[in-house]
Amino acid sequence: MTKITVVGAGNVGATCANVLAFKEVADEIVLLDIKEGVSEGKALDMTQTTTLLGFDSRISGITNDYTKTAGSDVVVITSGIPRKPGMTREELIGVNAGIVKSVTESVLAHSPNAIIVCVSNPMDTMTYLIQKTSGLPKNRVIGMGGALDSSRFKCYLSKALNANPNEIEGIVIGGHGDTTMIPLTRLASYKGVPVTELLDKETLDKVVADTMVGGATLTKLLGTSAWYAPGAATAYVVESIIHDQKKVVSCSVYLEGEYGESDICVGVPVVLGRTGWEKVVDFRLNDAEKALFKASAAAVRKTNGALNL
Ligand code: NAI
Ligand code: 2OP
Repeated sequence: MTKITVVGAGNVGATCANVLAFKEVADEIVLLDIKEGVSEGKALDMTQTTTLLGFDSRISGITNDYTKTAGSDVVVITSGIPRKPGMTREELIGVNAGIVKSVTESVLAHSPNAIIVCVSNPMDTMTYLIQKTSGLPKNRVIGMGGALDSSRFKCYLSKALNANPNEIEGIVIGGHGDTTMIPLTRLASYKGVPVTELLDKETLDKVVADTMVGGATLTKLLGTSAWYAPGAATAYVVESIIHDQKKVVSCSVYLEGEYGESDICVGVPVVLGRTGWEKVVDFRLNDAEKALFKASAAAVRKTNGALNL
């Protein structure tokens, strides 16, 4: 029996739970929030789509009772406050650090073997906080951001190419921030053809710029941060773990020398399987990409400095 807990039944958490259930990623999905009745209500609503959508996963909702999360294989943490228009992800640190730390302690008290997937922003710093305070083996702490940024990158590329997004390869590494993420245009391709051979520099530069402010664009339109793609991207990460799919996904993980960085969680390509992130894949960055990665890591490290560790 597989069990997933999603903490935070807000926009991203509820969407993630919904996608996980619809795709039958686990037998049981538990949604937990501190707001009385919200998780119960959303879980009940999702349960009532069972016969319409034809899935078999069971979904339950609970208000802050961690005993019901016991024995979870994966715990997704989305609890915390989201961005408002004009805010950066980094500005959320004060409130979210306290929430993420206490939630991590509560989930591990009942699911000591769980793999943690952190979504709450600033995500790289929250992932680092979990890694440093939980005592978990590094392979069981994963930050979700690169899966979303890579999906946005592929969508913007598909628009520029007038092509099917599913036929495009592309990955975004580095920090999950408007100025820190690195869409790797050199390695992006359409049916095996490098996009650098298909699009001119000006168009590619615009794709990169649009990708980097992808979250801010949506926050401006919606008045809060996005949830459909973030929820689906989180479910994509969880699915690769639970079903041992060995997908290579950009995730924020604790580095010990890989990509030239140590004592930091930042987005790199990793293989995701049943034990969490199994290995970092070396994409052999060129000098310009290495410089961008170094600067990105420096910015994440600066944000980490605001943690009271
Ligand atoms: P939301 O406000 O819709 O939901 C957050 C939920 O967390 C609320 O229902 C709230 O009651 C709950 N919560 C707060 N404190 C809690 C606690 N101690 N225990 C349990 N639940 C608690 O926000 P949304 O849009 O779902 O975003 C959630 C987080 O995810 C934000 O920090 C946001 O910035 C981040 N995010 C990260 C993305 C990524 O790619 N890493 C993408 C999109 C959002
Ligand atoms: C996003 O990228 C704000 O992290 C959030 O949509």
